[in-house]
Amino acid sequence: MQFLIGNKSILAKLITTLTILTWLTILVFAIWTSRGINTAFIYETGEISGQIAAALFCLSILPGISRRLKFKAPMVTLLMIIRRQLGIAMFSVAFLHYSSIRLFPIIFAGVPMNLSPPVFEIFGVLTLFPLFFLFITSNNFAVKSLKSWWGRVHKIVYISIWALFLHIALQEFGIWTIVIGTFALMETLSLFYYYAQKSTSS
Ligand code: HEM
Repeated sequence: MQFLIGNKSILAKLITTLTILTWLTILVFAIWTSRGINTAFIYETGEISGQIAAALFCLSILPGISRRLKFKAPMVTLLMIIRRQLGIAMFSVAFLHYSSIRLFPIIFAGVPMNLSPPVFEIFGVLTLFPLFFLFITSNNFAVKSLKSWWGRVHKIVYISIWALFLHIALQEFGIWTIVIGTFALMETLSLFYYYAQKSTSS
């Protein structure tokens, strides 16, 4: 762990490279879908990328939860350092999930858009679309320009984690329901703890 902390820029570059590869995969999948090839593979990759995005979501909120609960560990320090890259990777992989499963079949393969989608899918949209604002503001330029608004915009994650929980829980009860439910609870409880501490100390 100490080695990784010491070589944080290598880790950050590795995540950035994987993010670029994700966008290249999205491009390739767009071409394949328009040609009607490898559809089963695209769908399976879409399912797996949903799970990877969910795991990255948990990792990116863990430093905030730990900071509010005053919990310190080398792993948390590392996650704190690469948090921005993790958030960007999370949105990119989540977009791969959405485009493979829904968007590309509609725009490139003529699959009709379902105007009354299942409720769990509506919560998927409610998770992904607001995260776009976090994605485009996860850079130094946005931090400087938005000033105090940057923190406000990034508070979207407090709601998004619950939207993601409902996206997954309303499909079927499984391991991801437990994992995301636990993280959503930890996020909310850590916020209550933080504000309770703040109000008693002031
Ligand atoms: C527009 C947004 C979204 C749509 C339309 C969408 C759609 C879907 C669909 C249709 C499934 C079921 C796949 C199947 O089993 O056949 C699914 C599963 C899943 N989605 Fe999404 N999703 C969206 C956003 C997200 C986001 C933002 C995340 C994570 C950050 C996510 C994570 C997952 C996970 C973990 C599963 C369960 C996969 C499994 O257990 O196999 N989704 N999604």
